[in-house]
Amino acid sequence: MNIRVLVTGGAGFVGSWTVAELVLRGVPLCVVDNFSSGLPENVPARVEVHDVDVRCQSELRRVFERFRPTHVLHAASDVSGRLAGSSEILHSADINVTGSLNVLKAMFEFGSRKLVFVSSAAVYGEVPEGQLACEDWSLRPQSPYGASKAAFEMLLLPLLSDGAIETVVLRYANVYGPRQPHGENGGVVSRFFDLVIKNKTVPIYGRRAEGDGGCRRDYIAVQDVVDANVLALLSDARGIYNVSTGRSHLTSDVLELIAGTVAVEPRVQWLPPRDGEIKNSVQDCAKLQGCGWLPTHSLAQGIARYAQSFQNQFAS
Ligand SMILES: NC(=O)c1ccc[n+]([C@@H]2O[C@H](COP(=O)([O-])OP(=O)(O)OC[C@H]3O[C@@H](n4cnc5c(N)ncnc54)[C@H](O)[C@@H]3O)[C@@H](O)[C@H]2O)c1
Repeated sequence: MNIRVLVTGGAGFVGSWTVAELVLRGVPLCVVDNFSSGLPENVPARVEVHDVDVRCQSELRRVFERFRPTHVLHAASDVSGRLAGSSEILHSADINVTGSLNVLKAMFEFGSRKLVFVSSAAVYGEVPEGQLACEDWSLRPQSPYGASKAAFEMLLLPLLSDGAIETVVLRYANVYGPRQPHGENGGVVSRFFDLVIKNKTVPIYGRRAEGDGGCRRDYIAVQDVVDANVLALLSDARGIYNVSTGRSHLTSDVLELIAGTVAVEPRVQWLPPRDGEIKNSVQDCAKLQGCGWLPTHSLAQGIARYAQSFQNQFAS
């Protein structure tokens, strides 16, 4: 198959691991990233990288004109508006809707054939306990981030079944693994690892009653997400898919697993839910499994693998 892949957000956590896998497979590719959270050193050497913001149509157009991608993995995104009540709605929409429309516009102009849009399980909002969110559920996002992802998904609906551009929407659960930023906007697993290793107090938000273990989330290892991205790009899949494990874990369980792996007794500060914090989020992954994809890591295995990468980093 004659394909050329452009990866937006290719210097970020998920994007860069996907780029590395595509390089291994010999796929010609280029990266677009504005390095707001991504790092140049995440991108394998010899990959063409463009320091471009997806909100800038003219610069994006120039990259398309030069590289002529047949396929686009659109993973660039801003994740700061993950809580409700924040004033992030304009910022989230600017990057996740306007920026995404710029990508789509360039794809139409330069005849790209396939778009894989990276969305999020945040589009579902709260999932009733005991249930798994399926792809055909109504979308009830509770955050500016989730709303902006849902808004762009809506704009893709006419393309999903029979459009000129083959389209796949991937709704990731909570991704974790090496390279994930561990600051305020980082993931739970990376943040906890960082705090536990530095012997700092670990804040756990979302406690609603004495003794509960915080929120419940579906945690998926980045290696499994990379497999889903590659499948979506290189197969003839179309449509909307959850990228999840179908299992949920309490935040306190995540901390316990991490602490056990690095043999540290963590200090915990229990905190109430933040504005708009979803209590329960878990997604059904049967649809993607039907395409031959499998989540291969349990949370315990994924955390052990992550811990190994820390040890290697300190040993080198
Ligand atoms: N990590 C998760 O748990 C998770 C869960 C659900 C969905 N997602 C989605 O996965 C994708 C990748 O997220 P990630 O976790 O790797 O985060 P990340 O912050 O590591 O990656 C995002 C990348 O996009 C780049 N970027 C941001 N704004 C940009 C802009 N305006 N123009 C160009 N580049 C820009 C950043 O510099 C970064 O390299 C995002 O679309 C995110 O919404 C992630």
